[in-house]
Amino acid sequence: MKFSVTSIGLIIATLYKTVVADVPLVYSKENTGSSCNPPQLPNPGQCPTVQKLPDPFEWSNGSGRVKTLADWECRRNEIKAEIENYELGKKPAPPQNVKATYSGGTLTVVINDNNGSATLTSKLNVPSGNGPFPIIIGMNSGTGSLSASQFSGFIQVPFNHDQCAKYSMNGQKDTNAQFYKMYPNLKQAGDYIAWSWGVSRLIDGLEQVKDQIHADISHIGVTGCSYAGKMALFAGALDERVALTIAQESGGGGINSWRVSDTIGNVEKIDNTNYSWFMQALKNNFGNGKATKLPYDHHELVAMIAPRAFFTLGNPDYEWLGDKSGYTSAMAAYEVWKAMGVEDRFGFNFVGGHTHCSAAGSQVNDVNKFIDRFLRGKNTNTSNMLSSTVNSDYNSWISQWKGYKIDTSSAGSTPENTTPSQTTINNTQPVPTSGTGNGNGNGNGNGSGTGNGNGTGNNTSNGSCWSLKLGYKCCKKNNMVVLTDTDGQWGVENNEWCGIVHSSSCWSKKLGYNCCTAKCPKEYYIDNDGSWGVENNNWCGILKFC
Ligand SMILES: *[C@@H]1O[C@H](CO)[C@@H](O)[C@H](O)[C@H]1NC(C)=O
Ligand SMILES: *[C@@H]1O[C@H](CO)[C@@H](O)[C@H](O)[C@H]1NC(C)=O
Ligand SMILES: *[C@@H]1O[C@H](CO)[C@@H](O)[C@H](O)[C@H]1NC(C)=O
Ligand SMILES: *[C@@H]1O[C@H](CO)[C@@H](O)[C@H](O)[C@H]1NC(C)=O
Ligand SMILES: *[C@@H]1O[C@H](CO)[C@@H](O)[C@H](O)[C@H]1NC(C)=O
Ligand SMILES: *[C@@H]1O[C@H](CO)[C@@H](O)[C@H](O)[C@H]1NC(C)=O
Ligand SMILES: *[C@@H]1O[C@H](CO)[C@@H](O)[C@H](O)[C@H]1NC(C)=O
Ligand SMILES: *[C@@H]1O[C@H](CO)[C@@H](O)[C@H](O)[C@H]1NC(C)=O
Ligand SMILES: *[C@@H]1O[C@H](CO)[C@@H](O)[C@H](O)[C@H]1NC(C)=O
Ligand SMILES: *[C@@H]1O[C@H](CO)[C@@H](O)[C@H](O)[C@H]1NC(C)=O
Repeated sequence: MKFSVTSIGLIIATLYKTVVADVPLVYSKENTGSSCNPPQLPNPGQCPTVQKLPDPFEWSNGSGRVKTLADWECRRNEIKAEIENYELGKKPAPPQNVKATYSGGTLTVVINDNNGSATLTSKLNVPSGNGPFPIIIGMNSGTGSLSASQFSGFIQVPFNHDQCAKYSMNGQKDTNAQFYKMYPNLKQAGDYIAWSWGVSRLIDGLEQVKDQIHADISHIGVTGCSYAGKMALFAGALDERVALTIAQESGGGGINSWRVSDTIGNVEKIDNTNYSWFMQALKNNFGNGKATKLPYDHHELVAMIAPRAFFTLGNPDYEWLGDKSGYTSAMAAYEVWKAMGVEDRFGFNFVGGHTHCSAAGSQVNDVNKFIDRFLRGKNTNTSNMLSSTVNSDYNSWISQWKGYKIDTSSAGSTPENTTPSQTTINNTQPVPTSGTGNGNGNGNGNGSGTGNGNGTGNNTSNGSCWSLKLGYKCCKKNNMVVLTDTDGQWGVENNEWCGIVHSSSCWSKKLGYNCCTAKCPKEYYIDNDGSWGVENNNWCGILKFC
């Protein structure tokens, strides 16, 4: 491989990706902000009027904007509290006791909480083989309204929403449903809180049986369409263990902003959505043209998903869906991903010419790229995937706060407020190999690792750092392929080329540490050897393809 300085220059834009590569794609907790200060929640009558879309970055107490990604975890929790307070009712905290089993193809999750019990079941579609398999949770069917073939190789998990709260669209709520029996104080809540809670409990269950079904719980997606598009959106926004949220034709009460919807035609608004789904108080306090009193709007519901991945599909042919509002809200939410430098984790496709909930071909192609990248872990380019036949003057809705940037430089060490020194691991840091930029530490071990080492000549698959002999280090964690040549795939780190190693062999073994058993776990520390996670109170090497 030969590269001129100019070709390095050409890829400076790509370097940006490596700088922000630390921004987590997913979290291991339902709500990383659960211990943050709760926001101010004024009585509806005392909420100030905000004509434009509220600033997603501003603390609810008006004391300025979030500055870091750690701040965002708390700000996200503020938005959650606002939506719960004014619109849905409070999502119960993770229950005291959840016990899951998988038998005869069915996942059974038994929840005991609040002196009650509930049981959720889901007939899984589990591929054969050893996995680990990504997971798709479909609202009311294994893959929502997308085709099962788009999720081949996935564990497909139908969320049977009636088990939590029975679907109705006549405003009549069945309070005998399991969720309302277990949480009788939430009988006035909106079904979307019951349903998001149910999806979270399915995820609890999947975590418990993951070894049995070879599940990769760091790659969970949720998807649904229409009322179930809202359901997928709330589920993804309210559980940070979801890596990719796909909201298809979710309409008013979904991605659409309540404020913008109040300014357009015959669309689903606060006045005319279904009040088994939302709290009646939403209509009483903010209906009849008072959406501008809400301290938040649904661009912030969408933004709660950031920095995780999000894709939404629209259908402008259906007036009721109000895609003008959806598009405006999406462009507003996009600012939050941009602020974190991870805008390629956000996409949409608003196009017509298809019936409600049967995605157009271009939508299938686009969403497949998101599925490939964020659930299958492939190096798919998902930049600039913002297709729309709908336009709006979205700038006028967001100009007050557009273009804001969040400092993500400490993202890698603080995604969950934990750094190596704060954890209870014994040795504070792994011993790095001496020297950087030469091959001493690589590929010369005892051979007791898991690599096959039989010299088949596939220079990228045995875990050795193949690019060293060409004078380049291997990439520590970069999975973005910038260039492929006959030597292999190349990425860029610290303004230098690095060879991308696709390997399932354990590079940290030779340093005396096992590799992490979880696929692509949380990263605590990076050094010249690679990136490190923590398992069983000890360091573990994160495989280089993560
Ligand atoms: C406003 O809220 C933020 C986040 O909870 C907090 O850090 C800050 O101290 C608060 N400011 C005031 C003036 O209360
Ligand atoms: C559960 O029931 C016991 C006994 O009736 C009561 O003391 C306790 O407060 C209840 N706990 C909850 C969370 O409702
Ligand atoms: C419920 O929502 C549907 C659309 O999702 C709408 O057609 C219907 O009028 C709504 N019903 C009520 C009672 O608001
Ligand atoms: C990714 O795709 C976008 C839009 O198609 C394009 O502008 C960009 O150059 C691509 N990036 C890479 C690294 O291929
Ligand atoms: C690590 O520390 C824990 C608790 O301090 C201790 O029980 C354990 O034996 C230590 N492990 C090693 C390998 O030193
Ligand atoms: C092989 O392993 C032994 C015991 O872990 C270690 O002492 C020795 O240095 C290793 N040799 C090489 C070449 O890594
Ligand atoms: C050698 O590599 C091939 C191809 O990856 C594999 O099928 C075979 O099991 C390996 N043999 C040994 C002894 O590791
Ligand atoms: C891995 O493959 C490379 C290139 O084929 C070879 O030079 C190296 O010896 C192999 N390493 C191991 C540990 O098998
Ligand atoms: C090398 O290994 C990678 C990863 O296992 C595989 O995708 C690729 O097809 C292999 N290439 C050759 C030439 O065997
Ligand atoms: C890697 O493999 C490719 C094809 O399998 C080969 O052309 C190339 O020379 C190899 N590179 C190294 C550094 O071994």
